[in-house]
Amino acid sequence: MNKVLIWDLPTRIYHWALASSIIATFVFAYGFDEHDRLFQWHMLAGLIAAFLLVVRIVLGFVGTRYVQWKYFFHHPADSFRYFRNLFAGPAMYYAGHNPGTALVALLMFGFIPVLVFTGITQNWEISEDLHAGVAIALGIAVGLHLLGLAFFTFRQHDNISIAMVTGYKTAPVASGISSARPWTGLILAAVITAWIYTLLATYDARQATVKIPGLPSVIHLSENKKWKFWE
Ligand code: HEM
Repeated sequence: MNKVLIWDLPTRIYHWALASSIIATFVFAYGFDEHDRLFQWHMLAGLIAAFLLVVRIVLGFVGTRYVQWKYFFHHPADSFRYFRNLFAGPAMYYAGHNPGTALVALLMFGFIPVLVFTGITQNWEISEDLHAGVAIALGIAVGLHLLGLAFFTFRQHDNISIAMVTGYKTAPVASGISSARPWTGLILAAVITAWIYTLLATYDARQATVKIPGLPSVIHLSENKKWKFWE
């Protein structure tokens, strides 16, 4: 086993942008009162996370090997063996996601659209309860993700967390990808920056609105005005 390149630069850029936006949604949601202007940043961070999920969906089709969707789905017998061997038995190495990280990542991907939708439809009664419940579920999934990384590091004496920084992971040499795709990474960073810039440029703090290009109306970011899709 050697350290081989597994995560290309676009994946790492998207991962840290997503992690930052999710952390920001929690900080602004729990750190500020709903009527505080800074609470609006909770919704802005959520719209950034939504965009990053779209980026991730695209990467799953056009990205390098381990970013592709098929690498999230392990054979049930393989997953069963992995979870059975978690605390005992031989450690199992995966070049891409192991069945644990894959499952938690899929949960996170599933929770984000539900949170965004129930967030911008807070004028529906069901959305309010669902939003709070799914937010807790996402928090638990993030906690499991971090616990899983810590557990793996402890169990296999291999600091897996650093892989999302350097791109390198302990795996058989033949399983590495050939390029970190630095130019694609830079283009992706520019696209993410452009999205954040567009949101901030159209964000009106006084009116508590933001305008997304392509949508016929502004999105309301104010609790007391209640969010609605269209004016
Ligand atoms: C709110 C915080 C975080 C979120 C929402 C998050 C989300 C994710 C997601 C969705 C994936 C799957 C990657 C993919 O799209 O293919 C992933 C993988 C990964 N994340 Fe995070 N992450 C967070 C924090 C962190 C932190 C703090 C670290 C490091 C200390 C980290 C390290 C990793 C690593 C190493 C992987 C790849 C695991 C593997 O080999 O399967 N993440 N994360």
